[in-house]
Amino acid sequence: MRILIIGGGGREHALAWKLAREHTVYACPGNPGIAQVAECIVGDPLSTAIQVRPDLVVIGPENPLIEGLADRMRVEGLTVFGPGADGAQHEASKAFSKTLMQEAGVPTAPFSIHTDAASARMAAKARFDAGQSVAVKASGAALGKGVVVCDTYEEADDAIAMMLEDRDLGEAGDTVVIEDRLRGREFSLLSVVSGTEFVSLPVAQDYKRALDGDRGPNTGGMGTYSPVAKVDDDLVRKAEDRIVRPMLVAMKDHGIDYHGVLFSGVMVVDGEPMCLEYNVRFGDPETQTVMRRLGPGLGELLYAAAKGQPLPTVSVDVPSAVTVVLASSGYPGGYAKGVPISIPVDLDESVVVFHAGTADALRESPAPEISNLRTNHRGEGEFVSAGGRVLGVSATGATVAEARARAYAAADRIAFEGKMLRRDIAAEQ
Ligand code: AMP
Ligand code: GLY
Repeated sequence: MRILIIGGGGREHALAWKLAREHTVYACPGNPGIAQVAECIVGDPLSTAIQVRPDLVVIGPENPLIEGLADRMRVEGLTVFGPGADGAQHEASKAFSKTLMQEAGVPTAPFSIHTDAASARMAAKARFDAGQSVAVKASGAALGKGVVVCDTYEEADDAIAMMLEDRDLGEAGDTVVIEDRLRGREFSLLSVVSGTEFVSLPVAQDYKRALDGDRGPNTGGMGTYSPVAKVDDDLVRKAEDRIVRPMLVAMKDHGIDYHGVLFSGVMVVDGEPMCLEYNVRFGDPETQTVMRRLGPGLGELLYAAAKGQPLPTVSVDVPSAVTVVLASSGYPGGYAKGVPISIPVDLDESVVVFHAGTADALRESPAPEISNLRTNHRGEGEFVSAGGRVLGVSATGATVAEARARAYAAADRIAFEGKMLRRDIAAEQ
């Protein structure tokens, strides 16, 4: 098949790396890492798809899905893996998503929805008075910055002011969800969906906070590992039965014909799975880890899901994988770009370095910095940083511990100024 991937981050690199083993892959816009396995085309995604006429389009990020890119592509007769704007509302509106969870009977934290600060404060106060703590969530898509988990009423008060009064998150924070804080371990369940049918991929564990020991601000994700020993098959089945399937049925009842990934963010509370949120796309950096474990046939699975055909399964051939994200100093706040990156050519063969925020050094960086790199490192092209999350260093192994050791050994040999990473990815399983 000829497959066009829309996007240019670490998730899209992982998809391209996997799909390029069996198919011809194009990416729009792609990135310097993706360019090693696919043809990258910079341009408008819809025009590019019409021009390339691939057998399958896979849309990576949520924003184009929210904006209806999948719908516009389908109108052009393209086969697309990714939900339309109707299904993508799960990420455009937490108010929509929580309301549908409630209707579908999906276990989730009790919540209320607010558009004015006074009623939001009353709801938060009432919960703290009852001995509960809360999470304050911007309803709209806020790039992982829209959730504030609060230990005290004062923190909730600040978060409400930030979203509804100061409008720091813009429109995304104009509606706010206040919900009970849940406590438990989290995992990410990625299901490839065709209507009400689905196939789940191996479960991964993400690390959302910026710093070791789950401290610091929330990020897009600082690392992942799979399998997750504490999440056994029984728990996954429960999550599928209580969180994935009822939501697909509820969407169908609302006329939403969903073809794409439904990513369930699950928290295990007293041994039972509860839904924190749904995303409408592959997780990042979950995908980097999950792709390392799959056997052949992913392209066929995504194609069948896009077409509404019976879903084939994909085998899991690799026992364990770990991905460690290398971020720019300052992430998730402000950070420098254009910093030269040095990746040794002789990393362990179990390692794949996925590019998340990089650019081609020859174009982006002043000459003196590059010449130094050019003589010492990778021949395919030299890279500079171009984003908060720069690289995902992904390794496989017979066990998570082995994969982890290999990933960190490689991560330590990759150099750029301000490199920031968590040291505890997959440390405690
Ligand atoms: P979300 O974008 O809704 O997944 O939230 C981002 C992160 O915030 C989650 O991965 C959790 O770590 C945390 N979180 C969200 N909702 C809750 C909640 N009700 N209780 C505790 N933590 C939460
Ligand atoms: N790693 C979490 C996400 O992709 O939303």
